[in-house]
Amino acid sequence: MKKQNPFIVALLTILAATQLLGAQTHQILVDCKKPGTPIQKTMYGIFFEDINYGADGGLYAELIKNRSFEFPQHLLGWTSFGKVEVRTDDPAFPNNPHYVRLSYPGHPEKQTGLDNEGFFGIGVSKDAGYRFSVWARVPEGADQSSIRIELIDPESNIFSTEKLTIDSKSWKKYQVIFKAGKTEPKARLRIFLTSKNALDMDHISLFPVDTWKGRENGLRKDLAQALYDLHPGVFRFPGGCIVEGTDLKTRYEWKNSVGPVENRKLNENRWQYTFPNRFFPDYFQSYGMGFYELFQLSEDIGAEPLPVLSCGLACQFQNHDDKQNVKVNNLDPYIQDALDLIEFANGDVTTKWGKIRADMGHPAPFNLKMMAVGNEQWGSLYPERLEPFIKAIRTKYPKFKIVGSAGPSPDGKDFDYGWKEMKILKTDLVDEHYYKDPQWFLNNANRYDNYDRKGPKVFAGEYACHPKNRKNNFESALCEAAFMTGFERNADVVYQCTYAPLFAHVLGWQWKPDLIWFDNMRSVRTVNYYVQQLYGTYPGTNVLKTTENMLPLTGQGGIYATSAIDKNKNQLILKIANTDSVAQQAQFTLDGLKTVDLKATQIVLKADNPDAENTLDHPDTVVPKTNEMIIKNKKFDIELAARSFEVIVIQL
Ligand code: AHR
Repeated sequence: MKKQNPFIVALLTILAATQLLGAQTHQILVDCKKPGTPIQKTMYGIFFEDINYGADGGLYAELIKNRSFEFPQHLLGWTSFGKVEVRTDDPAFPNNPHYVRLSYPGHPEKQTGLDNEGFFGIGVSKDAGYRFSVWARVPEGADQSSIRIELIDPESNIFSTEKLTIDSKSWKKYQVIFKAGKTEPKARLRIFLTSKNALDMDHISLFPVDTWKGRENGLRKDLAQALYDLHPGVFRFPGGCIVEGTDLKTRYEWKNSVGPVENRKLNENRWQYTFPNRFFPDYFQSYGMGFYELFQLSEDIGAEPLPVLSCGLACQFQNHDDKQNVKVNNLDPYIQDALDLIEFANGDVTTKWGKIRADMGHPAPFNLKMMAVGNEQWGSLYPERLEPFIKAIRTKYPKFKIVGSAGPSPDGKDFDYGWKEMKILKTDLVDEHYYKDPQWFLNNANRYDNYDRKGPKVFAGEYACHPKNRKNNFESALCEAAFMTGFERNADVVYQCTYAPLFAHVLGWQWKPDLIWFDNMRSVRTVNYYVQQLYGTYPGTNVLKTTENMLPLTGQGGIYATSAIDKNKNQLILKIANTDSVAQQAQFTLDGLKTVDLKATQIVLKADNPDAENTLDHPDTVVPKTNEMIIKNKKFDIELAARSFEVIVIQL
């Protein structure tokens, strides 16, 4: 007999054993006898930051770039022709003093005017309405002036035209509604002076009429709808690093983002140059979608607002010298901003800031309950600044919740120090950030199993799985889904989480992956989006103990699982990720469940190719698929598809 190679024999034995093991049925026990730890309503949320043209050029539906001529190059985004001057005398809006004067070019065959390029073009849809508005006046003695406004395509063909007569000597708002003559993703808006009399113009604006909830200073409908459809429990804004700016001068100051939209002071956007390889010199923050609109959006989508304010530290990544920071004993204006924000959100209409909110159209309070002070902060500079904020806020608002930071990394010296200090300061929550590779996410599904239960609660404020190519592919989404089972299982210590970043314009991104991609006309929900949506739609109200061989399922054989009950909807919700490349059998025992023949819905997200992704051209490559099931017995068998995440919702 031919002698077998011992190495091959050993290999075959291992393979056979592995296959046998693979073929074994996972015995998963769900303890339905009594609802366990409550899951916070805030558990699954969203984090919005104006990065990747997420606000101006994105969610904020304004189509005109540099509408107030306040960019440092005052005509950036505009092409002017004929006699156009930028002026500041007797301006309409003191915080945005620049405006343009259009004067007769000196010959009837010549033209004066200007056109705007929008954000990577102006996207318009055939037959849809667009509201053009402008603040204007007739200068120097004349009675009236006039303009013609056109939408033109990249080949300079005009496809919509409107006219406006300006007949006031002082600043006044004029508007006209356009109907777009065709669908064009890269239109320009052109304005001609059509009178011999000159004209002053400021805050030149163009919005789709059909915004989210039809608001004039509104949001792009498809993008806001995508947020609504996530069913988020918490809404963190406005950053991220943008809270800090690159230096304190350019930090996000919420007071500049409220009040009449025309008078909100422009700020630069630090993401224009944070990554020189993705440099966008025309990226600014108009604050047209400011704190009022962000609170309103929280309310619209049913999420608890969570504003983040500067703690007086300039971005620690970009400032290595304490001289850039506010001294601890000079923090009063920063602390006052925090106190005033609570008054703006919640104060009676007779208070200074409550009145400003009411004057903007929302007399009822926004019921703000929490605030983060600081974004990604580390070292002793942070707790020494956070402490006076906490004292002042708790003195005035004893029940108000404060979120502290554990820095930019999920572990290490700074992280440990941050957590230790947050415990000493007794913050209510600690914001952890992790942008890590797929294996990290799989290895860390048990991250919170042994966390200290006595200290502050966890807020996973920024996280995303970064595969090698940094695409929003199926692999990253599956790893996030697997990892998030650990959030749910540890709902007694993890109170909320928000994926990051939320939005990216395909032509204007600085950072990827991102949850929702868009261009001027379309948007696409990534596979990662669908994972968030499944968690957000089926959060449950209480955790149910879920085990295999008495252990939580944190990756044994590639399986991750958790279960919850929803006491309000009377549902049992199972969430299972099979990260293995082969299908696996599982038998669930719903221990303590009395009834049989229960209707269930199985929602499955799966792909054969880990690199599969949804794109604007192919938005449905990986989307959840739904099957109806009947659970006949409290024990039921199921095949968990290879590389899949599924949610089984059993109606009790
Ligand atoms: O989400 C993008 C950035 O990542 C955030 O602004 C910052 O907090 C983190 O470093």
